[in-house]
Amino acid sequence: MTELLHQPGFLGTSANWGADMTLLVGLLVAVLLTVGVVLARRGRYGAHRWFQTTAAALNAVLVLWLMVLPFRDFVAPGLPERLNERFYYVTVAHAFVGFLGLTFGLFVTLRANGLMIRPLRFNDYKGFMRVAYGLYMLATLLGVVVYVVWFVNNPNPPVYE
Ligand code: HEM
Repeated sequence: MTELLHQPGFLGTSANWGADMTLLVGLLVAVLLTVGVVLARRGRYGAHRWFQTTAAALNAVLVLWLMVLPFRDFVAPGLPERLNERFYYVTVAHAFVGFLGLTFGLFVTLRANGLMIRPLRFNDYKGFMRVAYGLYMLATLLGVVVYVVWFVNNPNPPVYE
């Protein structure tokens, strides 16, 4: 599996296969969440719950597997000294918004599926969902910027050997 992830990518940049896949699946997550919002607007709450739950789970796998490790290996060692460099501040901004999005998103998902422990149950669903959706979209946008900064015209791209 690691060998497959570290093969050259398919988008013609200096990214490896894993990073290209992360970008595509990340964009798919954003599309699923947006379709889910439209379903909710149309009153189709059952389908809405399925879309958002699937997208949030897919995203959690991506972040915990394919983002946390490169963050640890390529970004964390330069902090805080190199935070004034674009590579670092763009990725840290992304990780910050992404972390908030993931936390909100998982809270809402667990609550909506009846899995949240009693003291943390909340009823203002709509507010939480709107904030979670906004944060996911912003994290995705910043994720695309991360991809470009890391792999497009970067003379020294952070790629695993
Ligand atoms: C809602 C949560 C998040 C979303 C929607 C999201 C989305 C994305 C997207 C679309 C990319 C571009 C694909 C790529 O360059 O590989 C990306 C890359 C990346 N993200 Fe996230 N992200 C989230 C959370 C996080 C968090 C919490 C961290 C910090 C630990 C993080 C760290 C990274 C890193 C280091 C990359 C570059 C990975 C690589 O290219 O190998 N992300 N993210």
